[in-house]
Order: sequence, then structure tokens, then C-alpha cells
Amino acid sequence: MSRKMWVLIVVLIMGFTTFAEEGMWLLSQLENLDLAGKGLEISAEDIYSQDKTSLSNAIVWLGGCSASFVSPDGLVLTNHHCAFGALQRNSAKDSVDYLTDGFLAESLQDEMPATGQYAYTLQSMTDVTDEILKSVKKIRDIAEKDKAIERKITEMEKLAENDRDDRYCYIASMYNGKQYIKFLFNKYQDVRIVYAPPAGIGVYGGDIDNWMWPRHTGDFTYLRVYQAPDGSGATYSPENIPLKSPNYLKVARTDLKEGDATFILGFPGRTMRYRSSYSIDWNLNENYIPMVKYFQSVLDVIADMSQKDPQAKLKLANYDASLNNAMKNYQGNIDGMRKSGIVEQKRQFEKELMDFIHSKRKLKKKYGHLLDEIAEQYGLLKETHQYDDALKNFGGYFTGVLFSQAENAYEVARERAKPEAERRPEFSEKRVQDNLKRIDYAYLRYYKPFDMAMMTMALKRAAALPEDQRITEVEDIVKDSDSIEKWVSDAFSKTKLEDAEFVKSLYSMTAAEIEAIDDPLIQLAVKLYPAKDRAYEKNTAWSARIKELRKNYIDAIYAWKSQNLYPDANSTIRFTCGKVNGYSPADAIWYKPFTTLTGVIEKDTGEEPFDNPKKVTELYRKKNFGRWVDPELDDVPCCFLCECDITGGNSGSAVMNARGELIGLAFDGNYEAMTSDWLYNQKLQRTIVVDIRYVLFITDKFAGAERLVKEMGF
Ligand code: ARG
Repeated sequence: MSRKMWVLIVVLIMGFTTFAEEGMWLLSQLENLDLAGKGLEISAEDIYSQDKTSLSNAIVWLGGCSASFVSPDGLVLTNHHCAFGALQRNSAKDSVDYLTDGFLAESLQDEMPATGQYAYTLQSMTDVTDEILKSVKKIRDIAEKDKAIERKITEMEKLAENDRDDRYCYIASMYNGKQYIKFLFNKYQDVRIVYAPPAGIGVYGGDIDNWMWPRHTGDFTYLRVYQAPDGSGATYSPENIPLKSPNYLKVARTDLKEGDATFILGFPGRTMRYRSSYSIDWNLNENYIPMVKYFQSVLDVIADMSQKDPQAKLKLANYDASLNNAMKNYQGNIDGMRKSGIVEQKRQFEKELMDFIHSKRKLKKKYGHLLDEIAEQYGLLKETHQYDDALKNFGGYFTGVLFSQAENAYEVARERAKPEAERRPEFSEKRVQDNLKRIDYAYLRYYKPFDMAMMTMALKRAAALPEDQRITEVEDIVKDSDSIEKWVSDAFSKTKLEDAEFVKSLYSMTAAEIEAIDDPLIQLAVKLYPAKDRAYEKNTAWSARIKELRKNYIDAIYAWKSQNLYPDANSTIRFTCGKVNGYSPADAIWYKPFTTLTGVIEKDTGEEPFDNPKKVTELYRKKNFGRWVDPELDDVPCCFLCECDITGGNSGSAVMNARGELIGLAFDGNYEAMTSDWLYNQKLQRTIVVDIRYVLFITDKFAGAERLVKEMGF
């Protein structure tokens, strides 16, 4: 079926299908959704319009997390855990523990630059499918075609950014390459921290309560976006002024009740809703299970170091939180997949799918072998899996800060030797320059003993590989555990990479010049480069093949069910809606959808992570709730649940009521539904939201930040 036909049919069918709450919809699909039927009192155009100001103009992307403008002067609300990276970097920089104590700017002048934090506002959204697919029409080979598409995308993004460092363009592939949409953003590089509550509020419950309900976390932080006097998104300067928000959300004045309609606009990161049983099986057994073990071993190292040295905590807190978060998510996936028998469910589904495909001659010809081909691809992965994983452990986040700096600088030099059009997409000159700016930030999480421990772990893992999957390049280092320890301590005493300026100077060298530097970590990066390069090529070829098969998998399902489809999440802006509702986590238990300040006080043990500030307890005892009390609950609402369909990346997203007014910030999903990234489950999946009334109660009564409450219209 041609692409045009396919899109047409999707659109037609969406017109007369009724919806469950499942779906992270593109804004261009809004007009096909029955918004009134879902209880919304505003139109698709009020939410998104190509030519009028709409609610979507109040939505901010933080590069990973979501956020929204809440005042005309660039004031932004997001989650505390979204601003955590910037808070950690500022803490390391100033040697002040903003993570534990929080930060409040008493006046505009006191707002503190959020180190390394950018903010993006969406300028336009354009379908560029034809332009991209036309340019690769003549290419037959799948891997070549995929590369050509990536190159075309890079070229188009570059053109749209027009060498401006306050512009960012992202061309996203939908449905594994059936559709391409170009998202153009304004990028603001001067973002400041306005108010972050102390950990006893912002991280209340910590990793124990993370991914759980009932929840009592005040997971919010205020930021402000600044612009240069000429309106550009320049880096920090005292001359910069608060941004005139393109639009902003108004806080709801009415109380929220169970059953009320809610919706969310934000940037969900990644879902795998159209994957085969093979993919799920692979991820359960070869990804989640081993990764949980690995994360735990790294976390043990961090815990040990943080206990001994407060400096370690300031440097590693963000890494610690991310790993804990990912580990619990993976464990939730393991538990959920086992409990629900998700692989078997998918296999049954695929059996029925194939029965249908085989009953139609044309479909049989096209998709008859689809599942065998997918199985074959996962079989290929298995052959060298241990080697691939151990090699991946050298670089990126896994081997600490210094080695990844050496690796990046050398890769850039190698890539620069190629003509620009042949460089890997992530090495376009603009991206290289963007990354160069971020080198200093990496050093704010550099803690030498941890870096050494990570390198030791990577080498030990290489040492343990089976005979037929050895990384020959490190063979002489990993002879025995003594040789590993000796090499690591020697390398870290000799290396010059602790000096960020030295690292930056590598970016003006050729590959040969870097190769000539007598530095053990750089030499290791040089030595591993060919192996890494082969792995990269192998991986891109594999991805091209699997993408094609995944596209066919969706087509086959489509041929069978003709149901409406939304594309998997890919960090592009989406709409989701659903009612305020509780759920049943297990037999005989019903979870109510609201928690309250009373619950916060009940959980208080005085000890981290349940160390509620005394002042909050006092306010509670005196019933000093101000206007933030809910008359029906006779309490300050803290968090609530709704049926919206979100995933990681949606954190910080504005949650709105039927009229599009701000009622809270999405900050989590529930443990029982961790597998929902693979398979949506209406009964179990909920979004956990911090109620805007709790946000304002803390801002007003606890922090006494009257200027912010006023700025938000109270
Ligand atoms: N579960 C949240 C999310 O993925 C992150 C919460 C971070 N908090 C923590 N204690 N690690 O959006």
C-alpha cells in the first residue's frame, strides 16, 4: 500500500472509532479525536493551531523533560527531578547543597543561572515525509537507504537551524519511517532557578516511594527563561531579560474531583507499543534482567563513596537518582512482564495475526515470513551479545567522565577527516560545537574514585568474557585482577584529561596528533576505536533491517485490524487525556485518586527520605492552609491520579482540566503498570500528578514566595 493511501485510511478510520484512554497523539491528529466525548470543553484548535496562539504555545521542552509557562514573563513550572541535574551542577560548583536545602530567589535579581539547562519552545511542526522519501527513492539496499535518510535529515535540520545556536531542529520518524515530521524550536540558553523546595518536599519518599502510589512528593521547581535584549536565546548575561512567554497557562480556580476530565501536553520519550514478542523477550531476558544487576553494582559503589565523602554525594547525586530510577523501572518491567505473561500474550496475538495473514494470498506473500525474519534478527544479536555489551561499557556514561572525553575527542577528529556529508549524523559540525560547550558541565560530576571504579568494572567485565568473544585490544590489561588495578591507578595518575581545557584543546587536533599523545586513557580510546567503529557499522545495518521489519509488522497488524494508530513516543510533543481515577493494584485493594497533606504528615519519620520540614508540620497543625484547601477533603490535596497515557519524558508536563487550566504537573507512573511502555493497560496504568494546590501551598505558605503566587495571578 502506498504511504498516501495508508495515511488516508488511518485518518478515515480514526474519524469513526471510539477511543479508550490509550494513546499519545500527535497534535496534527487532534482534530480526529472526539474531544467533547472525552469531556473536554475546549476545541482541538484551542489546544493546537498552526496559525493562532494556542495552549501548545505555553508548553516548554527541557531536553528530556517537559514543562510549561505559567506567567507572561517566562516563569516555568517543571518537576524537581527535572531540574535536579542543574541543581546538582550548581551545588558542585558553589559547594552549597541546594539538593538538600532547596533554593529560593527572593527577587528577580537573585534568580540563579541553572548550569547546563536549556529550554526550547516549539516554533513549527511540518510534515516532510515526501521530501525525505523522494530523495532516497532510487536506493534499493535497505542499509544504504537508511543511511541516506539519516543524511538527508541532518542536512534539512542544518538548513532549518541556519547556524544559529538558539535554534534547534529535530526531524522525527513516526511509525518506523512511514512519516517524518520536522519540529523547529527556539532554544534558550539562559535558564535560571527561581524556586526549588528542599529535598524533604521535592524528593519526599525518595527511591522508596518512586514509581509508587500513594505518593506525597512535592516534585516541582520553578525556572525562568531569559532572552537577550535583541530577543535571541543567548547564553547567560546580566543584561538578559525575562522572556515574554509566547503563551502561558492559567491556574484553575475550581476544585478538582474524581471523574473530572484531564489532559496533558508534553514530550514522552520512548514507547515500544508495536513491538513483536521477540523484541519483548529479548528486552526482558537480555536487557532488563542483566541491567538491574549491573545498576545495583554501580549504585553500591556510589552509596559507599557518598557515605564516606560529602563531596562524592554532591558530584554523584544526579547519576545516583537516574540509576535508581531506571533500575526500579526495569525491575517493575521484569515483575510486570512475568506476572502478566506479556511474551505469551504477544505470541498468541501473533499467532492470530499470522492465521489471518496466511488466509489472504496477497498478504501471505508480503508478510508470510515476517515473524521468522524478526526472529532471525534477534538470533543475530545473541551471537555476539556478551562482546557487544562489554565493549559498550567502554565509553558514554559507563566508564566515567574522563574516558568518555578521550573517546569523544578522538571520534570527532576521525569524523572530521571525512567530508561533512559522510559524517555520522551526530557528528555534524553544529552538534560537535554544541557538545564542546557542555564539556565543563561533565566535570561538575567528575569524582576521581568513582571514575576509577567504573573503569575497573569495565575492564573486569572484559576479563570475564568467553573465549570466542574476547576484546583483544584490552587483553594485555586484563591478564589478571592485579594487572587491571595497576593499569587503572597508573592511568589515572598519568592522564591529563582531568584538565577540561586540555580536553577542549583536543578538538583542534587531527586524529594523528591525538594518537601521538602519551596518555594512557587517550591511548586506550585510540586502540578501541576500530572495534567501536565496526560495532557501530554493524549496529546501523541491524537497525536499518529491524526498522524495516517493524514497519512491516505495523502494516500487517493494520491490514488485519484496521484500527486507529498513534506513533510510538519519540520525544515529540503529544496529547493524551483521561479522567481522574483510582485503581486496584491487587485483589481487594482500591487506591483512591487523591492524597493529602495529612498523608504527608503520616509518613514523616524525621529521617531521609521521609524528613518532612518542621514548618510544614506546623502549618498542618495550625490548619494554616490558606486558599489551597479543598473544601470536600477539608485538607490540602497533595497528589492525584489520572488515566492519561504518559511515559518518561512527560515528567514536568502540565496537566490541565476540561477548560485547559493548569491543575498539576505529571511526575511519575505507577509500579504496577511499568510494562505499559510495551502494552497499554487501561485498568492499571495511571499518571501520578502533583496537585497545583500543593505546589502553591508550598510556594505560598512554606516558602513565603508571595511574588511568585502573585505572578501566577493570585
Ligand atoms: N520516576 C520518575 C520518572 O521517571 C523520576 C523520579 C525521580 N526520583 C527519584 N527518587 N529517583 O519520571
